Amino acid sequence: MIHPPFFDTGRSFEENVLHGPFNAFADGEVFLREGEPQHRFLGFPVYLPFGIPAGPLPTARFAKAAFEKGFDLPVYKTVRTRELRSHPWPNVLPVEVDGDLTLEKRDKGLVVADDFREPLAITNSFGVPSSDPSFWQEDMREAVQAAGKGQVLIASFQGTNRGEGVDAFVGDYVLGARLVKETGAQILEVNYSCPNEGTTNLLCYDTDRIERISARIKDEIGNTPLLIKLAYFESQEHLRDMVRRLGKIVDGFAAINTIGAAVRNKDGSQALPGEGRLVSGICGAPIKWAGIDMVQRLKALREELGYSYAIVGTGGVTKPEDYAEYRAAGADAVMSATGAMWNPYLAKETQEYVKKHGIQ
Ligand SMILES: Cc1cc2nc3c(=O)[nH]c(=O)nc-3n(C[C@H](O)[C@H](O)[C@H](O)COP(=O)(O)O)c2cc1C
Repeated sequence: MIHPPFFDTGRSFEENVLHGPFNAFADGEVFLREGEPQHRFLGFPVYLPFGIPAGPLPTARFAKAAFEKGFDLPVYKTVRTRELRSHPWPNVLPVEVDGDLTLEKRDKGLVVADDFREPLAITNSFGVPSSDPSFWQEDMREAVQAAGKGQVLIASFQGTNRGEGVDAFVGDYVLGARLVKETGAQILEVNYSCPNEGTTNLLCYDTDRIERISARIKDEIGNTPLLIKLAYFESQEHLRDMVRRLGKIVDGFAAINTIGAAVRNKDGSQALPGEGRLVSGICGAPIKWAGIDMVQRLKALREELGYSYAIVGTGGVTKPEDYAEYRAAGADAVMSATGAMWNPYLAKETQEYVKKHGIQ
């Protein structure tokens, strides 16, 4: 069932940061847990390995509300080492997708839908905005401390390519990791897969580069667990080589980010205003197949290569059954962005569902 969203798509990113969260995430109602946490994620006890991935939770107030509603693994939206403004509003639009967003449908591009409805299919385009560390470090510290028993905050960050060469780019990731770790965050996630920056090639597809960056980040943060956020990999050989090299450096893989596709109005014009915004990230129900596929492949590779990394399954989780499907596919934790935005009770409903059906 669709509820009014806690991140208001009718407002700009800045207004959400200043005034959000909205609707049920602002009612202060707490989903109370009983007993002891029965699960562990990267060594941390959790009631349910379920959360909200990087995106819909841009401030401590959003993260606190997510904890209160039973999302035990919320991710604080990706931050940078310097302020960067969001793409102009609108940033989220509903899109028409008939069934799965196959790669053929992605290549043809999509058309905007009239309203947000089930099955939820949206595009989002923010450009990974960030406040200055002088603001977000203090706010992130609050978010870390808002975790209750059996809950832990994950902090997402990324570097920025300012055209100053590879060393500076790598160094910016390392600085980001240091600044995030200073907040007390216990799990870090580095975003290598945003399609909304106007670049055609995602960083996660450049194995040499992410191997170098990840090794430098791990040198910086020591034993603090590091997840890396991936997009969908079409080639199994490419994925296998990347996992073989990165699987011994990082502590886990989070997959998937959105799938980039051109989005147009019904008259064929570009839907989102501004340069570099014809292609934007598609998420929600139609990308579940791709998230499940990546989780299954990451699990098979973990067995084949004898690694022990964690797998975070994301993409198209809009109902409790989707959580169960991801767990069966091999996800150690499951997350929902689009589904949770329009259903603040998804964690509670999933808890009830797993209890009833005896699912882990
Ligand atoms: C509003 C919104 C903002 C997002 N921003 C980020 C981000 O800052 N960093 C990131 O790694 N992923 C971001 N994402 C992608 C999500 O983390 C997730 O990978 C993707 O939406 C697929 O999950 P879903 O189908 O449950 O939405 C964002 C998604 C949404 C809906």
